[in-house]
Amino acid sequence: MVNPTQSPSLDRDCTTLSRHVLQQLHSFSAEAQDLSALMNRVALAGKIISRRLSRAGIVEGVLGFTGETNVQGESVKKMDVYANDVFISVFQQSGLVCRLASEEMDKPYYIPENCPIGRYTLLMDPIDGSSNIDTNLNVGSIFAIRQQEGDDVDQSASDLLQNGHKQIAAGYILYGASTMLVYSLGNGVHSFTLDPSLGEFILAEENMKIPEQGSVYSLNEGNFWQWEEPIRNYVRYVHRQEGYSARYGGALVGDFHRILQQGGVFLYPGTVNKPEGKLRLLYESVPLAFLVEQAGGQASTGRQRLMDVVPDKLHARSPLIIGSPKDVALVESFYQESSIASE
Ligand code: AHG
Ligand code: MN
Ligand code: MN
Repeated sequence: MVNPTQSPSLDRDCTTLSRHVLQQLHSFSAEAQDLSALMNRVALAGKIISRRLSRAGIVEGVLGFTGETNVQGESVKKMDVYANDVFISVFQQSGLVCRLASEEMDKPYYIPENCPIGRYTLLMDPIDGSSNIDTNLNVGSIFAIRQQEGDDVDQSASDLLQNGHKQIAAGYILYGASTMLVYSLGNGVHSFTLDPSLGEFILAEENMKIPEQGSVYSLNEGNFWQWEEPIRNYVRYVHRQEGYSARYGGALVGDFHRILQQGGVFLYPGTVNKPEGKLRLLYESVPLAFLVEQAGGQASTGRQRLMDVVPDKLHARSPLIIGSPKDVALVESFYQESSIASE
């Protein structure tokens, strides 16, 4: 007789992302099926990008620049273009997504054949931290899913210019020593590790909780004299305390992943020349704000809860302070102090 009791390792191998998404939704409604299919497509994009990154240096077209400049005025890397094309390809003929908005494209990419039924928009940073690629360091992809509102007949995508509460799902894929996918549908944050032998994302941690406080502060101190005074004061404060550690990898996804697991704070503040900072709201900071709040953390501009910020354009930027609730509150207290002083 075969013993029907499953072994723990078999149980673990069967807790795949697609099963988890359906469990999260507690339903087999059309919307639940759609979200499950959307997440599966995002996962497929992650697997394709991960496969290519893992062969950097031995196949053509992974390392280096294209010679072009993107809408942000940044030099485009070959992997930026490849990853952007991967996301478009996996959503073509899916019937799920009418538009994809990306860091790499001036305007959203429309898939007209999907539009009559595909009422979702995928927003993405196809490769985050692309300067890390050529040195074999971690990079990521960030994504968010929003319901399309209205018909967008003039293709202005103006319905995307709303705050972060409009996101119905968000997450990232981290291409590190292993490939991980972290996501939330607004009901906790869950992480998965890609098992290359199965080609499946397997549950690593359910309902992740960020520590209330951490020892890591993560920001590019090369910008010290460009920051506004509250950030300089915060960093001066940290330097005088014992027990803080600076960690900065140059890729938001990796730096954020460390903080989500171990606590602390990531900062990309505004500078004198760029008061709005570097990071883009719709497909970088707001998806991570959604995740961090789901894990019990906070995300702020320094003066406002990040989830409440309404972007004025598709590629709008904002300062980002994100992480453990006590650490974010501490940074905010330096902004409050400076506004009292200036009254
Ligand atoms: P991207 O590669 O998508 O343009 O993003 C890079 C971002 C982010 O990942 C990282 O935290 C930050 O830029 C690093 O910027 P600095 O080099 O200015 O520190
Ligand atoms: Mn980025
Ligand atoms: Mn990018």
